[in-house]
Amino acid sequence: MNQNQIKEKANELLSQMTLPEKVAQIMQLSYAHLSEEERVMWIDRGIGSLLHVMGSEAQRFQDKTMETRHKIPLLFGIDCVRGHAMNPAATVFPCQLGMAAAFNPEMVQRAGEVSAVEVTEDALHMVFSPVLCLGRDTRWGRVDETFGEDPYLSGELAAAMVKGYQGDGEMRQDTGVLACAKHYLAHGESTGGRDSYDVPITNRKVLETFAPPFKKVIDAGCKSIMTAYHTIDGLPCTANRWILHDLLRNIMGFEGFVITDWDNAGRLFWQQFFSPDMRHAAKTAIEAGNDMIMSTPSFYEAAISMVESGELDEARIDEAALRVLSVKLEMGLFGEKRSQFNHKKASKMACEEHLKINSEFTNQTVIMLENKNNVLPLSRDIKKLAVVGPNADNISSQYGDWTFYTHPLPDFTKVPESVNISIWDGINTIAKDSGIKAALTQWDGPVSKYSRQSAPDPQDVQSIQRAAEDSSTDSTCEAGEQPTTPNLEKILKDCEGADVVIAVIGDDPTFNGEERDRADLDLPYAQQKMLEVIKEAGYKLIVVGVTGKPLAVKWVKENADAVLWTFCPGMYGGSAVAGVLFGDINPSARLPISFPQHSGQVPVYYNQLPGWHGEKYIDLPKEPLYSFGYGLSYSDFSFENLLCPENVKANNKEDICISVDVSNKSKKDGTSVVQLYFRDMVSSITGTPVKQFKGFERVSLKAGETKKVSFKLPMDELAIVDYNLNRIIEKGVFKITVGDGQYLEKEFEVI
Ligand code: BGC
Repeated sequence: MNQNQIKEKANELLSQMTLPEKVAQIMQLSYAHLSEEERVMWIDRGIGSLLHVMGSEAQRFQDKTMETRHKIPLLFGIDCVRGHAMNPAATVFPCQLGMAAAFNPEMVQRAGEVSAVEVTEDALHMVFSPVLCLGRDTRWGRVDETFGEDPYLSGELAAAMVKGYQGDGEMRQDTGVLACAKHYLAHGESTGGRDSYDVPITNRKVLETFAPPFKKVIDAGCKSIMTAYHTIDGLPCTANRWILHDLLRNIMGFEGFVITDWDNAGRLFWQQFFSPDMRHAAKTAIEAGNDMIMSTPSFYEAAISMVESGELDEARIDEAALRVLSVKLEMGLFGEKRSQFNHKKASKMACEEHLKINSEFTNQTVIMLENKNNVLPLSRDIKKLAVVGPNADNISSQYGDWTFYTHPLPDFTKVPESVNISIWDGINTIAKDSGIKAALTQWDGPVSKYSRQSAPDPQDVQSIQRAAEDSSTDSTCEAGEQPTTPNLEKILKDCEGADVVIAVIGDDPTFNGEERDRADLDLPYAQQKMLEVIKEAGYKLIVVGVTGKPLAVKWVKENADAVLWTFCPGMYGGSAVAGVLFGDINPSARLPISFPQHSGQVPVYYNQLPGWHGEKYIDLPKEPLYSFGYGLSYSDFSFENLLCPENVKANNKEDICISVDVSNKSKKDGTSVVQLYFRDMVSSITGTPVKQFKGFERVSLKAGETKKVSFKLPMDELAIVDYNLNRIIEKGVFKITVGDGQYLEKEFEVI
């Protein structure tokens, strides 16, 4: 069907629908939150979409739509942000933050394709992904879902993911799924890192920093966008006509439909006190530009009554329904896709091909932060290694939030039904093959007890830390049921005779993820104490971090002999980490996000402003512990011959060509992530950052090899947003910085 035919068919359907049918068509409800009776009632009403249902159950309801008046297929949505991870049988990729560390859009696209195939196999059509929030305030619980702190990297990777989900260009009719970029807009910037609070930024800042990644996914063909929970300068995103219409459609050219986040329409009334009642909340949400309403059952009566009383123009309901119907037609839901599940062929769920892609990708996501005296890679001649720590054998920490462990309802007793290699499994496999004795000490220290409903729990890990510090108690917590530390004596005993101790530390989805923001980014006391005891005993200490976000691990940087870090690496986390530890994999990941030295330093994102008075704390430097783009390799890369034009015309339409020679000076083949940054030296916006990331290339180099790397920097990337909200390119000098660990600089002038 071409666009004209789609339009015609959508209009024809709409003309036959009653007002209640049109309102139902623009609603999405949660299967898990409805009784069977209610589900059937909503199907009869002609509901447009359900979320969080899959497989035969989804197909059962899809089949029921054939008995309705217009036979309009249901659109099924699912949170698929790291593969189809709500299904325990599916391929679970690293979280977005983990994926971002590979700086590899091609692999992100392939991950999107794999996810689309697996989601389609479960009869589903829409994935609430990619996430375009920026992980700049790392206290926020959802940092794991982001592609990190940088708008350029996020936009590039998200665009690749959209192509993977939907298809590059046309929507793939067989396995294409609808991408839903979220959370629109500037979610993650909430005051204090507290989820879904007020974001005190201006529309200029929105245009400069937060809208550009969305523009990239729109250009890649993304057909749905999810509104965020928070307010921007006091105005709920759900009610913000400027961002939902003027910016999204008029400026950025979006043509799909906008869906609210969970009960955003209802929240306008019961949570944000913006609308006096549900009727007005429905009117506000629809008039602002939301086209589909997620998880607000009362929207139905409210919207119908508002139209019937003449307070809401039916034309806006029509516009929204047309958009939803058009996307359904474009995706082929009225055709074969409607009953794909019934005609299922051989299962591709976590099939060999998908697992291979995942394993290859995960190998590129382990970041080496420290390697003092080249302690890594480990020799296969060592005799004994000890593995300790809470995340050594903890698959839920590798999978993280938005997996079957946490959704639709948290259940940590569930087990993955496909490959799942814990860090210990990975290390032990290599150790066994190499005749190394490996010993695992199971974690018996405190674990997080957080639950969504409860107030901060005095028995939670971070609170135990403070209690222990306050009372200087040592290895047992007198007040509560939880121990303060693991059994340290046992750990030391298990470590006896070890050539190295590998401590696998971090967090897990009980203390990262949605609604799990943290004010304190230190390692929990129990883990810190364990590291200190091992260090004091004189062991060579290798720390492996498995987390959903950067932590404040200054002690680890200063005291560990080597440090590897992974962000929720998924099913192949263990083999990837072990491969790097023993040198089978040369680490090629770089940080997509900066680590603070201390929680009080947050935010520490790299693209800050120069600062005009003091620009530091009296008690801490302003620099992060590790900055965006940092990461070590077993190879040594060096850079020469940075070339760029001396000047370019401000009205130039061509990309700016920049090139550099990168050499691998070591004896080991390796991959460099060559990075391009610039600084706009003088501009009419004093808020121009000291460095802006604008290009990257993964370059594989044999030992001793040199390659030329060329960047094409689009002129538009030089633009600033002025105080009249125009994107303009100003004349003047730009300094570029190119490299990876070692950096070269050069200037060009826009004339
Ligand atoms: C989250 C969204 C998610 C939605 C549906 C919300 O709470 O903010 O990211 O897609 O739930 O599960």
